[in-house]
Amino acid sequence: MRTTLSDLKRWHSEQQPIAVMTCYDASFARVLEESAVDVLLIGDSLGMVLQGHPSPNPVTLEDVAYHTRCVVRGSQRCFILADMPFGTSQISPQETFRNAAVLIQTGAQMVKIEGGLEMVETVRFLSDRGIPVCAHIGMTPQSHHQYGGFKVQGRDSLRADQIVESALALEAAGASIILMECIPRVLAERVCAEVQVPTIGIGASPACSGQVLVLYDVIGLSAAPLSKLAKDYSSVPGGIAGMVRTYVKEVKNRVFPNDQHCY
Ligand code: KIV
Repeated sequence: MRTTLSDLKRWHSEQQPIAVMTCYDASFARVLEESAVDVLLIGDSLGMVLQGHPSPNPVTLEDVAYHTRCVVRGSQRCFILADMPFGTSQISPQETFRNAAVLIQTGAQMVKIEGGLEMVETVRFLSDRGIPVCAHIGMTPQSHHQYGGFKVQGRDSLRADQIVESALALEAAGASIILMECIPRVLAERVCAEVQVPTIGIGASPACSGQVLVLYDVIGLSAAPLSKLAKDYSSVPGGIAGMVRTYVKEVKNRVFPNDQHCY
């Protein structure tokens, strides 16, 4: 039976860490599911790791829909989270709903939307109409041009306060999960303490309800040098399943991330 949002909420309330990993096809979905991953994220990171682009921004809704269908066919138990790619959630709540509905119709159980306060109205529109939303805050890769690169966000107190304010407003608007990327550990811990919904971290803090990594980083297939937030498990024995199982175990035991992977 497939994991549901209620299961994720229960694990969060029981303080059982949630292991999330990106996944883009049926074969890896099978391996990740057999290796005890809880949530498969069809991330727009596919633009970089599958398509060879320097950023996620060229990824289309059709790309994510295609890869979501593949992942859904390869898995039976994992929760399915699909990314809203660049340009599909920024115009209006109504248009975002239409785009998110496409992903839900492929089998996604929740969509992930990048952004802060500017996305509150959209998150409310979707969650009020039956589409669960994971709100992705902090360093949102689709805005890398705005940041001048993929840079840590929230180091100064003004931006840190903005990130906390966004988390609270997005939660109040109905976001079911807050995902935080590439922010200082103390800031991530502030958000975890303030919101009630599950939090997922990447370059955030071990205090988050769960962690996410990009599959290709975990199995040592990244073309680019790994950033601090990622971890390469390719030296772990037992093939890909061994690497993934070790990542899951480290998340569940709150061994990953440690200071080496936090800011
Ligand atoms: O696209 C992606 O893979 C992501 C995660 C790294 C959070 O957004």
